[in-house]
Amino acid sequence: MSSMESAPLPLQPSEADDIIQGVLTENKSKFKTPNQIGFYRRQKLLLPGQSLYHAQLDTFKIDDEGASLRIIHQDTNVPYQLQVIALKGGIVRLKIKEFSPLKSRYEVSDVLIKETATERFSVSKQESDNVVLDYQNGLYKLHIAAYPFSVTVTQDEKALLGINSQGLLYFESGVSSPPGSVATVGDIDAPQDSSKEEFGLWKEEFGDFLDRSLTSVGLDFSLHGFEHVYGIPEHADTHRLQDCGDSEVYRLYNLDVFGYSVCNKMGIYGSVPLLLAHKPSHTCGIFWLNSSETMVETHYKASLQTELSQAAPVTRKKKAVPMVDVRWMSESGIVDVFLLLGPAPQDVFNQYAQLTGTQAFPPRFSLGYHQCRWNYEDEADVEAVDSGFDEHHIPYDVIWLDIEHTDGKRYFTWDPVKFSDPLQMQKKLQEKKRKLVVISDPHIKVDPNYSLYAEAKEKGFFVKDRNGEDFVGTCWPGSSSYLDFTKPAVRDWYSSQFALDAYKGSTDALFVWNDMNEPSVFESPEMTMPKYVVHHQSWEHRDVHNLYGFYQQMSTSEGLIRRSGGQERPFVLTRSFFAGSQRYGAVWTGDNKAEWQYLKISIPMLLSLSVAGISFCGADVGGFVGDPEPELLVRWYQAGSFQPFFRAHAIRDSKRREPWLFGEGNTLLIKKAIEERYTLLPYLYLLFYRAHVSAELVMRPFWVEFPKNPETFGVESQYMLGSALMVAPVLVPGVSFLDVLFPGPGELWYNFRNYKCIKGQRKQKVGVTLDEIPVYQRGGSIIPMHTAVGKSTGWMEETPYKLYVALNSKGSASGELYVDDGHSFKYQHDRMFIYRHFTFQKNVLSCKSAENTGHFSRECILKKVLVMGLKKMPSEVNIISPGKEKTQVTFTYSHKLGLLTMESLSLDASADWEIHIVSS
Ligand code: GLC
Repeated sequence: MSSMESAPLPLQPSEADDIIQGVLTENKSKFKTPNQIGFYRRQKLLLPGQSLYHAQLDTFKIDDEGASLRIIHQDTNVPYQLQVIALKGGIVRLKIKEFSPLKSRYEVSDVLIKETATERFSVSKQESDNVVLDYQNGLYKLHIAAYPFSVTVTQDEKALLGINSQGLLYFESGVSSPPGSVATVGDIDAPQDSSKEEFGLWKEEFGDFLDRSLTSVGLDFSLHGFEHVYGIPEHADTHRLQDCGDSEVYRLYNLDVFGYSVCNKMGIYGSVPLLLAHKPSHTCGIFWLNSSETMVETHYKASLQTELSQAAPVTRKKKAVPMVDVRWMSESGIVDVFLLLGPAPQDVFNQYAQLTGTQAFPPRFSLGYHQCRWNYEDEADVEAVDSGFDEHHIPYDVIWLDIEHTDGKRYFTWDPVKFSDPLQMQKKLQEKKRKLVVISDPHIKVDPNYSLYAEAKEKGFFVKDRNGEDFVGTCWPGSSSYLDFTKPAVRDWYSSQFALDAYKGSTDALFVWNDMNEPSVFESPEMTMPKYVVHHQSWEHRDVHNLYGFYQQMSTSEGLIRRSGGQERPFVLTRSFFAGSQRYGAVWTGDNKAEWQYLKISIPMLLSLSVAGISFCGADVGGFVGDPEPELLVRWYQAGSFQPFFRAHAIRDSKRREPWLFGEGNTLLIKKAIEERYTLLPYLYLLFYRAHVSAELVMRPFWVEFPKNPETFGVESQYMLGSALMVAPVLVPGVSFLDVLFPGPGELWYNFRNYKCIKGQRKQKVGVTLDEIPVYQRGGSIIPMHTAVGKSTGWMEETPYKLYVALNSKGSASGELYVDDGHSFKYQHDRMFIYRHFTFQKNVLSCKSAENTGHFSRECILKKVLVMGLKKMPSEVNIISPGKEKTQVTFTYSHKLGLLTMESLSLDASADWEIHIVSS
């Protein structure tokens, strides 16, 4: 069927089953290769060289809103408006759009959280062929050259970032048009003879599908002195972006790629068009705000640069400086790009958060372990699995229901036979302080008797085909229409469906999973929505494609907040995402496989999501497709327990995989990994709080924590959880040792289980058993943990705490503890939380308030303190609390390890006190 034809007739159930079977098989030819993408091929005809664009400096204007000028294409004389805006906090925004477009162009709006305050540039030089603008009091200068047009950002007279220095600015002024009509373009004339069309340049043919659009934009950036670039998730590929060579390119196009291949630059479920560049002296970022299909090429090279010194020009030397060229190409929209100038990694994260927001602060339960499967069959199955955890004394927080829990894949309903009493099912879970997550996909079954469908249809809430009819595609329910989440009224209506009285059978223990929201449309080009589909305000799907999932999760998350009258924090997992999705919940890496290479690739995938603002991320533990061998499953649990989102999931027809099904030995190992997660909850919760309030990453690549140490820049098999824990998951079978990099210099690393100390900086072989993966605590940190685990996080609200104090080479350490009610917005509205700061200095461990807080009280008993790296055995240890008598503490000390253990404490972690370690 051609996408040009009208809507298909509703499918018969057996036909739908056949289609689903096809969907669940890998088939690479379902997806385009770069040379099947017309706009990419057209842009590739433009080779690096002298740009044909010139700036008309006589049009240069500057005011509080920024600078602007006109640029013009020398052959077509099409004029464009360039705006350069200085935002407060180290961000420069550049916008290029046509003066008089043939058709208006889509500009992404809801991704930016608010208009950031602007600063005024000052003009430090203005000549006939160039203008120099000072930003941040001259710390950075922007050199705008007229012939050809380019912009160079310098710092201390050294080039940092070049824009259009390769002359790859590209702007097609045509419109998308049905086949047969004559198209017009800006940069390159559209061919009139059909032979060229066969090259797929002007008309895109993919299988039976035809498409044509002539609205693409592109621009190049040169990153001077950089050899490491990261970001632009989502790809199943390395964390450090690779040189694309002649034939490769990173694609950002949200697609449902079942069992995606690893080490691949093709687009999968989500897109964040943020690229980060790092070198020891500087980190910066390029945020390309465009929601259409986007291709990104990265090339590593060296450039000869003249050393700028005080010496006379003749004596100045040239030296080879590394650099990275980055080319962005998007199918539609405008050029709207933010330069995040750093200079430290955390500055770039702050700048990006200033634009797109920080990670939503999740309810505490969602940091526990999640048990998922496609599908838990019925209420009895749910009950049996739930009890299984109790029988094996394994903590868990959430059981998940996949599509089959509904009445014929009609979301917001329940299968009347298998899930006849969802309220009772949730009540039972709630009694055990556990939660339920159910799936809610964006496709809505075409069925006039399904009230959600009928209402959406009547209100005109579905995306439209070319004839203005509701678009009908195929997904799990068979024929389906798709909600137009880009329309505010649709989001509002969808949000209201989560109200407890609207969503029959739901309770406040129910949370949501948005899947298939790329969106996935079986039997459509690349299994997604055809680009001609029409959205709100007549935008074509091509303009907003990468935003579809973002908007669904936004609407779901707002629905959950609204259902609680604005009181409760939501939890929503999404498969598809865009920049800013971090504000609405968690993301997972989709349909991976139960193979070692997928465990391995999950680490760089999660690191890339993390640096792009999405801290709450995880991969399906065990691998979704297939049946993991027990060793792989155990290793995956061990890795997953130290990752932000920790959920096991398995495809239908795979063997059952609950943690106790792999023999007693493996059950115990999995239990140990999950329990370790639960003891770490106070630390994890703190990390999420920090991610939320300060844009700090939960899972961090080494380069973020050791930005001056180039040895760490390429590491992606180890990572940091916060700044205190280094994790080295075992990613291959049958190993008895691992090569672990201990970053340094000057760092101390304490084995998290036996407290032995290793000095950085070096690589060392460490022995591993199947029992656990290597984890080290960094000297200088204090980690809060629980002393015991409960059935779920809900049972652990008042579980006592222990502190692991790991001393650095100066004998000091610091850390924090954050406690609140775990579920509401009171922390935000009324500052209802406990926030404590611990420091260890000169043999005194002190506990003080970290911030002024409201009157929140919660029992926080500190039972145990370990001090690692204490050189001398104490003669006595005393507790000193304001207004109280000094009390002596009993302790043990290991000379071999330099380990002081205080086990029988009963200190209130929400009050001030000091522990003095006295050595005679
Ligand atoms: C997709 C999801 C997967 C889910 C399945 C059925 O393949 O990625 O997690 O189980 O759909 O809903």
